[in-house]
Amino acid sequence: MASTGRLGFRLSRQVTSTISPPIPRAYKWAGSFMSSPTRPLLDMSQGVPGIAPPQSLLDGLSKASKSPSACGYCPATGEVSLRVALTGEMKGVYGQYADISVDDIALTAGCNMAFVATVMSLADAGDEIILPVPWYFNHQMTLNMLGIKTVPLTTTAQDGFLPSPELAATLITPKTRAIALVTPNNPTGAVYPPSLIAAFASFAKTYNIALIVDETYRDFIIPGPPHALFSPLSASPNSLIENHPTQPWSWRENFIHLFSFSKSYCIPGHRLGAIVASPTFLSEVTTVLDCLQICPPRPIQIALTPLLHTFRPFILEHAKSIERRHSLFRTLLPSRWKIGAQGGFYAFVKHPFKGVNATEVSRRLAMEAGVITLPAEFFCQERMVARGDVGSLVATEIDADPDEDDMWIRFSVANVDDTQVQKVCERLAESEESFGWKLVSIPKGIEADKQLNK
Ligand SMILES: Cc1ncc(COP(=O)(O)O)c(C=O)c1O
Repeated sequence: MASTGRLGFRLSRQVTSTISPPIPRAYKWAGSFMSSPTRPLLDMSQGVPGIAPPQSLLDGLSKASKSPSACGYCPATGEVSLRVALTGEMKGVYGQYADISVDDIALTAGCNMAFVATVMSLADAGDEIILPVPWYFNHQMTLNMLGIKTVPLTTTAQDGFLPSPELAATLITPKTRAIALVTPNNPTGAVYPPSLIAAFASFAKTYNIALIVDETYRDFIIPGPPHALFSPLSASPNSLIENHPTQPWSWRENFIHLFSFSKSYCIPGHRLGAIVASPTFLSEVTTVLDCLQICPPRPIQIALTPLLHTFRPFILEHAKSIERRHSLFRTLLPSRWKIGAQGGFYAFVKHPFKGVNATEVSRRLAMEAGVITLPAEFFCQERMVARGDVGSLVATEIDADPDEDDMWIRFSVANVDDTQVQKVCERLAESEESFGWKLVSIPKGIEADKQLNK
């Protein structure tokens, strides 16, 4: 076993003050569950697709990886042919008149890389970026490592975990550089309506900041399109026309769209993402990407290019199957467990145990019931007390009702099948008795509603 001894040099303070990746902590809990063929471990923690991509892509990949020409570098912002193909795809998603051209696109080694390159290009250490809470933990971790301050924007279950532009306005300071949204959201699953996204675009324009929208799960919104920000002037959202009558919306001035190929195309291991933004911004991003990735992985780009336009039926079928699984989960979930929001790959669920925080519930679910989930606390932690002990993470004091906040758990419906969803729900019901904790009462009318849903 590798030694974990002393180091003869100092570590980066920015890194040591950043939380360790939280998912291994949930897996560590699951390590003590006695799994058996009749009672297997059930993993609802991972936001990864549960299916493989179509055979045509696997064949294309094996051909591309054998080709000597795929061994070299390509441009820092990716193969032009795939960028052209992506503009066509985006017109399919956002509307035929979406104003997107090949020069607006940079391909990256995944969407996380897209976020890092974006924030490095627009903010310096000491600057501030607003993130709705709960956040996608890699966003906050990235900001922390870069010395950029994360400014938390509280969201509540009452509001369906939708962020408020009015509240965001109270957080603006001279150091604010951007607000970064994720829709459909990770971890809450909340899908932000086009009107809310337009209101945030107006907000970004008013305060001269960037609106970053991570749309990793956009293809799982049925029906689309997710928003109208790429529309030409004549079709601009109303709030943008009304709030900015003299300077109409021109998306390249404020909007930065981030995308991941991981979920829609079921290729998380091949590392492909995209930044869609003004070419002026992308020329700075190119400097960053040249250092971070030199270029995105080539075989996957070469394999995807001729196939990209053929994927829509596959993506739609996948989205429909995830939607059906969401609905099954909603139907089978025991009545005391309450769904706060649901969409993309995730359901955000309030557990029924009185006075117990979600981390403790997730821990016992993994260790005793063999159900792996992620508690809300993993999506609002800001720092660690002691390095090396992943158990000593602390949550930042976030300005919200602690009782309500502490009870939410993220379930991913993407990587499980229908039978597993059923088993998870059975084990949640068992846990109500076996954990021996006091339970909230079943809200009136819920049982009747459930019967109707069935
Ligand atoms: C919101 C969000 N952004 C980015 C990513 C990472 O995407 P990629 O695999 O393209 O880096 C994830 C993965 O779970 C995610 O949930």
